[in-house]
Amino acid sequence: MRCLVLSGGRGTRLRPLTFSLAKQLVPVANRPILGWVLDRVAEVGVRDVGVVVAPDTGWAVREFVGDGGEWGFRVEYIVQEPLGLAHAVKVARRFLGDDDFLMCLGDNLLGSSIRGFVDRFEGEGLDGLILLKEVEDPRRFGVAVLDGEGRVVRLVEKPSEPPSNLALVGVYVFSRRVHEAVDRIRPSWRGELEITDAIQEMINMGCRVGAEVLDSWWIDTGKKDDVLTANAVVLDEYVVRDVRGEVVGSRVEGRARIEEGARVVDSVVRGPCVIGRGCVVENSFIGPYTSVGDGSRIVNSSVEYCVIMEGSVVENVERLEESLIGRNARVARRGGRGVVRLHVGDYSEVEV
Ligand code: G1P
Repeated sequence: MRCLVLSGGRGTRLRPLTFSLAKQLVPVANRPILGWVLDRVAEVGVRDVGVVVAPDTGWAVREFVGDGGEWGFRVEYIVQEPLGLAHAVKVARRFLGDDDFLMCLGDNLLGSSIRGFVDRFEGEGLDGLILLKEVEDPRRFGVAVLDGEGRVVRLVEKPSEPPSNLALVGVYVFSRRVHEAVDRIRPSWRGELEITDAIQEMINMGCRVGAEVLDSWWIDTGKKDDVLTANAVVLDEYVVRDVRGEVVGSRVEGRARIEEGARVVDSVVRGPCVIGRGCVVENSFIGPYTSVGDGSRIVNSSVEYCVIMEGSVVENVERLEESLIGRNARVARRGGRGVVRLHVGDYSEVEV
C-alpha cells in the first residue's frame, strides 16, 4: 500500500493567505494542518508517500515535510498544476505503479484513526473505499447515495440539489482500477478532473466500491471559519498545560502552552491556547481557542478564538475575536474612535 497526500490546489477560498502560502500549511495549534494529516497517515503504517504539490507553493511544503523522516516515510514529491484531484492521481501514476493506495487531502482533519478503514479495504478486496460524513450543507462537497445495504449507488460533486446529506471526506483507498476510470472521465464544470466522477466511473465499470460513515469529527479547512473551528478542536484535544516561557505578574489559567522564549507580562492567559516561541504578550488577555504564532506581539489587547500566525502584532485592540491573521501582519488601533486606517491585501476581509 502506498499513499498519496494532496498538498497542491489553489486555495481560492482562503485568500489572501493562500497568495503566499499553501493552504495545507496554514497552522492550527501552531502547526501546519498538513502535519496533523501526516500523523494520521503514519498511524496506518504506510512507508512510501507521494506528496503532490503545486508549482508555486510546493517549495514551502517540501521545506516542512522534508524527507518525511519525522513520520518514518520515504517521500517523493510530485508537482501538479491544480487541475483536480483525479488529475493528481494521473500525474502520480508513475509513483503509484499498480499498487493499492490511500489518498488523503492535505487540508482535511479527522478526529480518529483511519487504520481500520484501510484494513477493511484490504480485508474485503475492494477496488475503492470512500469515507463519508453527514453534513448540514452537502452542496459544498462531493455527495454519495447509498442503497439499503450500504453500497454506493451514485456520486455527485457539489450538487445544487443534494441527493443525500453524506459528504465525501477527503480520504479514499483505491486499487489500480482507478487509473482506468481516471482516463475515461472529462473535466467538470469547474474545469477539473474530479475524483468523485472517477469513483462514479468505477461503479459504472462494475468495480466494487464500499463506503464507511465516519463517526468522529471531520473538518475540511477550506475557509476561514473552518480553520478557526479546526484550531479550536485541535487545541481542545491536544493541548496540555505546559508553561516554559517567562510569566511575570500574570495569571495563566487552564491548558495553556507557552513556549520557550515567550514573555507574558501583566496579562491573563486562559486555555486551551498556545503562545509560540519568542512571543511577547503584555497587558493583554489571551482567551480560549487562540493560537499565537512564534515571534508575535500582543500588547494592550484582548484576543479570543483566533489564529494569529507568526511574526504578527496586535496592539491596542479592545477585542479581537474569530479572526485569522497572516504572517507578519499588524492590527492596531491608533487615533480616535471611529477612525479606521487600513492597508489590506487583495481579497482580504475586514469587519470593524
Ligand atoms: C474536494 C472533493 C469533494 C470532497 C472535498 C472534501 O472538494 O472534490 O468531493 O467532498 O474535497 O474536502 P474541493 O476541496 O476540491 O472543493
